[in-house]
Amino acid sequence: MPEFSAVLSKIIAIDGPAASGKSSVSKALAKRFGVTHVNSGLMYRAATRAVLAEGIDPGNTKEVDRYIGTVDTAAKAEVNGELSIIIGGTVREGLNSEDVNTFVSAVSQAPLVRDRMVALQRRMVESIPTIMEGRDIGTVVFPDTPFKFYVTASEEVRAARRAAEGLTDQVAARDKADSTRKSSPLTIAEDATVIDSSDLTLEETVEAIATSLEEKGWR
Ligand code: DC
Repeated sequence: MPEFSAVLSKIIAIDGPAASGKSSVSKALAKRFGVTHVNSGLMYRAATRAVLAEGIDPGNTKEVDRYIGTVDTAAKAEVNGELSIIIGGTVREGLNSEDVNTFVSAVSQAPLVRDRMVALQRRMVESIPTIMEGRDIGTVVFPDTPFKFYVTASEEVRAARRAAEGLTDQVAARDKADSTRKSSPLTIAEDATVIDSSDLTLEETVEAIATSLEEKGWR
Protein backbone atom coordinates (compact mmCIF):
# COMPACT_ATOMS: atom_id res chain seq x y z
CA MET A 1 0.00 0.00 0.00
CA PRO A 2 1.50 3.37 -0.92
CA GLU A 3 2.21 5.80 1.88
CA PHE A 4 -0.58 8.26 2.49
CA SER A 5 -0.12 11.74 3.86
CA ALA A 6 -2.81 13.66 5.73
CA VAL A 7 -6.03 14.33 3.89
CA LEU A 8 -6.24 18.03 3.20
CA SER A 9 -9.87 18.06 2.27
CA LYS A 10 -13.13 16.95 3.79
CA ILE A 11 -14.22 13.53 2.68
CA ILE A 12 -17.64 11.93 3.11
CA ALA A 13 -17.27 8.15 2.86
CA ILE A 14 -20.30 6.14 1.76
CA ASP A 15 -19.80 2.38 1.77
CA GLY A 16 -22.26 -0.42 1.28
CA PRO A 17 -23.12 -3.58 -0.61
CA ALA A 18 -24.13 -3.85 -4.28
CA ALA A 19 -27.31 -2.01 -5.30
CA SER A 20 -27.78 -0.52 -1.83
CA GLY A 21 -28.64 2.81 -3.44
CA LYS A 22 -25.35 4.44 -2.50
CA SER A 23 -24.74 5.87 -5.99
CA SER A 24 -28.08 7.70 -6.18
CA VAL A 25 -27.70 8.88 -2.59
CA SER A 26 -24.09 10.02 -3.13
CA LYS A 27 -25.02 11.94 -6.29
CA ALA A 28 -27.91 13.70 -4.56
CA LEU A 29 -25.79 14.57 -1.52
CA ALA A 30 -22.97 15.89 -3.70
CA LYS A 31 -25.43 18.21 -5.42
CA ARG A 32 -26.93 19.35 -2.14
CA PHE A 33 -23.59 20.08 -0.49
CA GLY A 34 -21.84 21.31 -3.65
CA VAL A 35 -19.00 18.78 -3.46
CA THR A 36 -17.42 16.40 -5.96
CA HIS A 37 -18.80 12.88 -6.27
CA VAL A 38 -16.47 9.97 -6.95
CA ASN A 39 -17.80 6.47 -7.53
CA SER A 40 -14.78 4.28 -6.71
CA GLY A 41 -16.55 1.17 -8.01
CA LEU A 42 -16.10 2.56 -11.52
CA MET A 43 -12.33 2.26 -11.11
CA TYR A 44 -12.55 -1.46 -10.33
CA ARG A 45 -15.03 -1.82 -13.17
CA ALA A 46 -12.60 -0.10 -15.57
CA ALA A 47 -9.81 -2.42 -14.43
CA THR A 48 -12.13 -5.36 -15.13
CA ARG A 49 -13.00 -4.02 -18.57
CA ALA A 50 -9.28 -3.70 -19.37
CA VAL A 51 -8.50 -7.21 -18.08
CA LEU A 52 -11.29 -8.67 -20.23
CA ALA A 53 -10.15 -6.69 -23.28
CA GLU A 54 -6.64 -8.11 -22.84
CA GLY A 55 -8.01 -11.65 -22.77
CA ILE A 56 -6.69 -12.20 -19.24
CA ASP A 57 -8.53 -14.68 -17.03
CA PRO A 58 -10.10 -12.44 -14.32
CA GLY A 59 -9.79 -15.29 -11.82
CA ASN A 60 -6.03 -15.49 -12.33
CA THR A 61 -4.94 -12.99 -9.68
CA LYS A 62 -1.25 -13.23 -10.56
CA GLU A 63 -1.91 -12.43 -14.22
CA VAL A 64 -4.33 -9.65 -13.32
CA ASP A 65 -1.72 -8.06 -11.02
CA ARG A 66 1.05 -8.56 -13.56
CA TYR A 67 -1.03 -6.70 -16.15
CA ILE A 68 -2.10 -3.84 -13.85
CA GLY A 69 1.54 -3.41 -12.82
CA THR A 70 2.52 -2.68 -16.40
CA VAL A 71 -0.06 -0.03 -17.31
CA ASP A 72 -0.76 3.56 -16.32
CA THR A 73 -3.97 4.28 -14.45
CA ALA A 74 -5.63 7.70 -14.26
CA ALA A 75 -9.04 9.14 -13.45
CA LYS A 76 -10.59 12.40 -14.54
CA ALA A 77 -13.81 14.01 -13.31
CA GLU A 78 -15.68 15.32 -16.36
CA VAL A 79 -17.66 18.58 -16.43
CA ASN A 80 -20.95 16.63 -16.47
CA GLY A 81 -19.96 14.93 -13.23
CA GLU A 82 -19.09 11.63 -14.89
CA LEU A 83 -15.78 9.97 -14.21
CA SER A 84 -13.41 8.86 -16.98
CA ILE A 85 -11.07 6.05 -16.01
CA ILE A 86 -8.04 5.60 -18.20
CA ILE A 87 -6.22 2.29 -18.01
CA GLY A 88 -3.36 1.57 -20.36
CA GLY A 89 -4.03 4.78 -22.32
CA THR A 90 -7.68 3.95 -23.06
CA VAL A 91 -10.78 5.48 -21.49
CA ARG A 92 -12.66 2.36 -20.42
CA GLU A 93 -16.33 2.21 -21.30
CA GLY A 94 -19.23 -0.20 -20.85
CA LEU A 95 -18.56 -0.34 -17.13
CA ASN A 96 -22.03 -1.43 -16.03
CA SER A 97 -22.39 -4.29 -18.48
CA GLU A 98 -23.17 -7.83 -17.43
CA ASP A 99 -19.71 -9.24 -18.11
CA VAL A 100 -18.18 -6.57 -15.87
CA ASN A 101 -20.78 -7.30 -13.17
CA THR A 102 -19.81 -10.96 -13.37
CA PHE A 103 -16.04 -10.52 -13.07
CA VAL A 104 -15.51 -7.31 -11.11
CA SER A 105 -15.36 -8.98 -7.69
CA ALA A 106 -12.63 -11.35 -8.90
CA VAL A 107 -10.53 -8.55 -10.36
CA SER A 108 -11.00 -6.23 -7.39
CA GLN A 109 -9.58 -8.71 -4.91
CA ALA A 110 -6.17 -8.66 -6.63
CA PRO A 111 -3.76 -6.89 -4.21
CA LEU A 112 -2.00 -4.72 -6.79
CA VAL A 113 -5.31 -3.70 -8.37
CA ARG A 114 -6.40 -2.51 -4.92
CA ASP A 115 -3.15 -0.63 -4.28
CA ARG A 116 -3.35 1.15 -7.62
CA MET A 117 -7.01 2.09 -7.26
CA VAL A 118 -6.64 3.28 -3.66
CA ALA A 119 -3.68 5.44 -4.71
CA LEU A 120 -5.81 6.87 -7.51
CA GLN A 121 -8.69 7.59 -5.13
CA ARG A 122 -6.45 9.41 -2.66
CA ARG A 123 -4.65 11.37 -5.37
CA MET A 124 -7.88 12.53 -7.00
CA VAL A 125 -9.28 14.27 -3.97
CA GLU A 126 -6.24 15.62 -2.15
CA SER A 127 -7.66 19.09 -1.65
CA ILE A 128 -11.18 18.80 -3.03
CA PRO A 129 -14.17 18.24 -0.72
CA THR A 130 -15.60 14.97 -1.97
CA ILE A 131 -18.22 12.31 -1.43
CA MET A 132 -16.64 9.00 -2.31
CA GLU A 133 -18.67 5.82 -2.46
CA GLY A 134 -17.39 2.26 -2.45
CA ARG A 135 -16.68 -0.72 -0.22
CA ASP A 136 -13.62 0.32 1.79
CA ILE A 137 -13.66 4.12 1.71
CA GLY A 138 -14.31 4.56 5.44
CA THR A 139 -12.22 1.58 6.51
CA VAL A 140 -9.13 1.77 4.27
CA VAL A 141 -9.02 4.69 1.84
CA PHE A 142 -9.94 7.52 4.24
CA PRO A 143 -10.11 5.89 7.69
CA ASP A 144 -9.57 9.24 9.45
CA THR A 145 -12.63 11.01 8.10
CA PRO A 146 -15.32 11.53 10.74
CA PHE A 147 -17.99 11.59 8.00
CA LYS A 148 -18.65 7.89 7.42
CA PHE A 149 -21.81 6.09 6.39
CA TYR A 150 -22.72 2.52 5.59
CA VAL A 151 -25.81 2.43 3.38
CA THR A 152 -27.54 -0.91 3.07
CA ALA A 153 -30.88 -2.52 2.20
CA SER A 154 -32.28 -6.04 2.33
CA GLU A 155 -31.12 -8.48 -0.33
CA GLU A 156 -34.64 -8.63 -1.84
CA VAL A 157 -34.87 -4.85 -2.10
CA ARG A 158 -31.43 -4.62 -3.70
CA ALA A 159 -32.15 -7.35 -6.25
CA ALA A 160 -35.44 -5.61 -7.09
CA ARG A 161 -33.64 -2.27 -7.60
CA ARG A 162 -31.25 -3.83 -10.12
CA ALA A 163 -34.11 -5.57 -11.92
CA ALA A 164 -35.99 -2.25 -12.11
CA GLU A 165 -32.93 -0.82 -13.89
CA GLY A 166 -33.21 -3.67 -16.40
CA LEU A 167 -29.88 -5.11 -15.25
CA THR A 168 -28.86 -8.63 -14.33
CA ASP A 169 -26.51 -8.48 -11.38
CA GLN A 170 -25.89 -11.32 -8.94
CA VAL A 171 -25.81 -8.95 -5.99
CA ALA A 172 -25.71 -11.70 -3.37
CA ALA A 173 -22.77 -13.43 -5.05
CA ARG A 174 -20.87 -10.15 -5.39
CA ASP A 175 -21.53 -9.25 -1.75
CA LYS A 176 -20.24 -12.62 -0.62
CA ALA A 177 -17.08 -12.26 -2.70
CA ASP A 178 -16.56 -8.63 -1.66
CA SER A 179 -17.09 -9.37 2.05
CA THR A 180 -14.89 -12.44 2.26
CA ARG A 181 -11.85 -11.40 0.19
CA LYS A 182 -8.50 -11.04 1.94
CA SER A 183 -7.62 -7.47 0.96
CA SER A 184 -9.90 -4.71 2.25
CA PRO A 185 -13.13 -6.69 2.47
CA LEU A 186 -16.47 -4.92 2.70
CA THR A 187 -17.05 -4.35 6.41
CA ILE A 188 -18.82 -1.72 8.46
CA ALA A 189 -16.35 0.76 9.97
CA GLU A 190 -16.72 0.89 13.75
CA ASP A 191 -17.44 4.61 13.63
CA ALA A 192 -19.78 4.55 10.60
CA THR A 193 -23.42 5.57 10.81
CA VAL A 194 -25.49 2.72 9.36
CA ILE A 195 -28.50 3.65 7.23
CA ASP A 196 -30.88 0.86 6.21
CA SER A 197 -32.70 2.18 3.16
CA SER A 198 -34.98 -0.86 2.64
CA ASP A 199 -38.07 1.12 3.64
CA LEU A 200 -36.83 4.59 2.78
CA THR A 201 -37.25 6.61 -0.41
CA LEU A 202 -34.17 8.17 -1.99
CA GLU A 203 -35.17 11.55 -0.54
CA GLU A 204 -35.59 10.10 2.95
CA THR A 205 -32.19 8.40 2.77
CA VAL A 206 -30.53 11.62 1.62
CA GLU A 207 -32.28 13.52 4.41
CA ALA A 208 -31.11 11.02 7.04
CA ILE A 209 -27.48 11.37 5.94
CA ALA A 210 -27.67 15.15 5.58
CA THR A 211 -29.04 15.46 9.13
CA SER A 212 -26.33 13.21 10.48
CA LEU A 213 -23.65 15.16 8.58
CA GLU A 214 -24.82 18.39 10.14
CA GLU A 215 -24.80 16.77 13.59
CA LYS A 216 -21.24 15.60 12.94
CA GLY A 217 -20.21 19.17 12.15
CA TRP A 218 -20.03 19.17 8.34
CA ARG A 219 -19.49 22.84 7.32
O1 DC B 1 -20.07 -0.04 -6.37
P1 DC B 1 -20.08 -1.07 -7.53
O2 DC B 1 -21.13 -2.13 -7.31
O3 DC B 1 -20.15 -0.44 -8.86
O4 DC B 1 -18.65 -1.77 -7.41
C1 DC B 1 -18.26 -2.78 -8.29
C2 DC B 1 -17.28 -3.72 -7.63
O5 DC B 1 -16.04 -3.05 -7.39
C3 DC B 1 -17.69 -4.30 -6.29
O6 DC B 1 -18.42 -5.52 -6.46
C4 DC B 1 -16.38 -4.52 -5.58
C5 DC B 1 -15.46 -3.50 -6.18
N1 DC B 1 -15.21 -2.35 -5.32
C6 DC B 1 -14.24 -2.48 -4.37
O7 DC B 1 -13.67 -3.56 -4.22
N2 DC B 1 -13.89 -1.41 -3.60
C7 DC B 1 -14.51 -0.23 -3.74
N3 DC B 1 -14.14 0.82 -2.98
C8 DC B 1 -15.54 -0.08 -4.71
C9 DC B 1 -15.88 -1.17 -5.48
